[in-house]
Formats: sequence, C-alpha cells, structure tokens
Amino acid sequence: PFRTCSFFLSLLNYKTEKYVIAENRKIGILFRLYQLAVLGYIIGWVFVAKKGYQEKEEAIQTSVFTKLKGVALTNDSNKGLHLWGAEDYVIPPNGEQVFFVVTNYIETPNQRLGFCPESDRVPDGRCTSDDDCEEGETVIAGNGIKTGVCINSTGTCEVHAWCPVEYSPRPQEPLLSAAENFTVYIKNFIRFPNFNFFRSNVLETAEANYLKNCTYDSETHPYCPIFHLGNLVSWTGSDFQEMAVKGGSVGILIEWKCDLDKDYSLCNPQYSFTRLDININNSVTSGYNFRYAKHFKDPKGESFRTLYKVYGIRFDIMVNGQAGKFSIVPTIIALGSGIALLGAVSKGAFACDMILLYMMNTSSFYRERKFEIINFNITAKMPVALSNLQKHFIQAI
Ligand SMILES: *[C@@H]1O[C@H](CO)[C@@H](O)[C@H](O)[C@H]1NC(C)=O
Repeated sequence: PFRTCSFFLSLLNYKTEKYVIAENRKIGILFRLYQLAVLGYIIGWVFVAKKGYQEKEEAIQTSVFTKLKGVALTNDSNKGLHLWGAEDYVIPPNGEQVFFVVTNYIETPNQRLGFCPESDRVPDGRCTSDDDCEEGETVIAGNGIKTGVCINSTGTCEVHAWCPVEYSPRPQEPLLSAAENFTVYIKNFIRFPNFNFFRSNVLETAEANYLKNCTYDSETHPYCPIFHLGNLVSWTGSDFQEMAVKGGSVGILIEWKCDLDKDYSLCNPQYSFTRLDININNSVTSGYNFRYAKHFKDPKGESFRTLYKVYGIRFDIMVNGQAGKFSIVPTIIALGSGIALLGAVSKGAFACDMILLYMMNTSSFYRERKFEIINFNITAKMPVALSNLQKHFIQAI
C-alpha cells in the first residue's frame, strides 16, 4: 500500500528542467552563430526569397492569338512570278498558338488523274520487268497504284495517280528567304482564376503608334509583342537561312511571374526562345515538311490540282506562370514552422554539446556537471527496486 500510494503522490509533482550554463566564449559564439544562421534562413530564404507569406497559384489560364505580316515575291524560271501573302505562307491561317511559316517548297502544277511512271526516288516503284509491277498493288511510300506495266525508259512501274508525280528536287536555297523579315504579332491573355486576375502582354499604356513601329528586343523593347522571325531564330542560336532550307521547329516561351502584392503594372511577361527539333544539320531526321494540294476545275469541269511540298519553320508558343498574393494561412504556417525550427535548434544545439562533451580538455569536468549520477545505495535508504520503477514511470510520463 505504501508503494502504490507514493506512486500516485508522485503523479502530483511538477517536473521542471535543470540547466547547465557553460561559461565558454567560443562555444557561446558558436551557438549564437548557429541561431543566427537559422534565423537568417527563416527570414532571408523562407520569407524574402521564397515569399512564404504568399498564397501561390500556378494554374494559369491563357489564350494566344498570332498574326503574321509580310509579303514575298518568288521568281521561278518555270512558273514565273508568285506573290506570297500571309494567307499563303501561314498554315493554318487562323492565328493559332502553333503556326507554320513556309520557307521553301516544291510545286508540282497541273496534276490530273491518269497513268504515268512512278518517281524513281520511290524504291518500291523501280522495276526491270512487268513482273515487278503487280497490277492493283499500291506502291509502298509512293504516289499511286501499279497497273502491271514496267516502263523501260524510266525503269519504274506505271501507276494510276495524280500525274505527273512530284519530280523536282528540293531547292538548295530557300525560295522564301524573304520570310526572315516577316513579323509576328503575338497577343497573349492570361488569367489567374483564384485571384481573379487578368492581364495581357500588350502594353496598355503604349501610345497609339507604338505597336505599329516596334519590334521586340530584350534590351530596348522588352514589352513589344511584335517579333521579327529572323531574330526569333537567331536567338535560339540557329541561322534562319540555313533552317529555312529543310525546316525546323522553334519554341517561344512566355513566362509570367506575378507578385500581386505589388502594382499590377509590374506583372509583365518574360520571353525566351529555344530550338525544339534536334539541331543536327545533316541528319535525316532534321527538318519539317508536309504536302498539301490546291484543287481547281477547268472549263470542261474536269478537276486538276497543284501539289505543294512545303518546308518551313513551326513556331510553338508555350505559356506558363505563377502568381502569389499575401494570405494569412501560409504566413501562419511559415511562421509556425520557423519558430519550431528555431526552438528545436536552441534546445538541441547538438554540435555545441558534442564539442563540450568530447572535444575539449575540460570535457570530463563538464560531463561530471552535466550528468548527475545519484547512487541510491549510499545516499538513500529507499529500496533500489522501487526507485528504478519510479524512474521508469517518470520517464514514461
Ligand atoms: C531583311 O531586311 C534587311 C533590312 O531591311 C535587309 O538588309 C535584308 O536583306 C532583308 N533580308 C532578306 C532575306 O530579304
């Protein structure tokens, strides 16, 4: 009964900690530096650099319109002069976020449905005898359907196709080299839905004629939304005329980093430019091209077409952004975790303790003072078993 009673009485005791103060300048300074570093981290990094007091939003909603300007005159020895306007060289023409500008092309005019020899650049179309051209078979990666006849003069099968099939090689100089001087006007509207914040990359304060005369330059006109295509390509480290021969792909990145605690006119886009296709000039994979045809009808009502294989530069506009605004919840969380970190460091100061305990010549003295060893066999007449039991309980509590 005495034992249980004393245990319950011990529950009513108040426990407090006992501190050992080490009067050692070096360790003292070390400890304060340690605290200062933690404080610096909390204030400098968490609050100032990372703006821990702000609520963040990365789900940006965005819309991009593009419009190209410029005309080019091509002079082909066979087909004569041809004037190219934006409606001809921009595909698709409706001003999308991804657009393609024709810089080089192969034109095959006046194709009619009929019978003609396959191009000798198609391996499956080559033949030595009629047996190589089985009737009704399509030419693999070719232009038509075999008729069963091998044409000796060309060494290729006769096909049922739009004739004549494409025969010209790709021009070695880009036919629309003037595309270098075309400009693109990029309009970008953004919205951060949580903050209900809208913005566009077109400066509202700009005077009426500003947009008619400016072209973007990261130094002199960083907020002008009109870009010179030649510059766009050169900022990616490539040469426009070189890229124009076989085509390629360029990425335009628009980045919005907005601090909504500041004035909204300070929320402006940053542009950056990269080449997205593999930049190996003589590789088979480099370049970008596709074909399309324009269909016409002659006065007799028979249709014919002009086939274009176009090479060009594809521009991909990517938009991303982040906005932050003061909010009480993240502030409290950042403050709370900062205080907890500071508290843990002040209490633990593990490194200082380690130095005092093990790495100084006064260490054994300090150890003696820090850890008090009470031997109950000598000092008290209490039974040892009980005191151990009690110690465990106290620890557990
Ligand atoms: C682009 O314009 C500049 C200046 O007007 C001119 O010097 C250059 O030859 C033009 N480039 C092409 C490919 O036409």
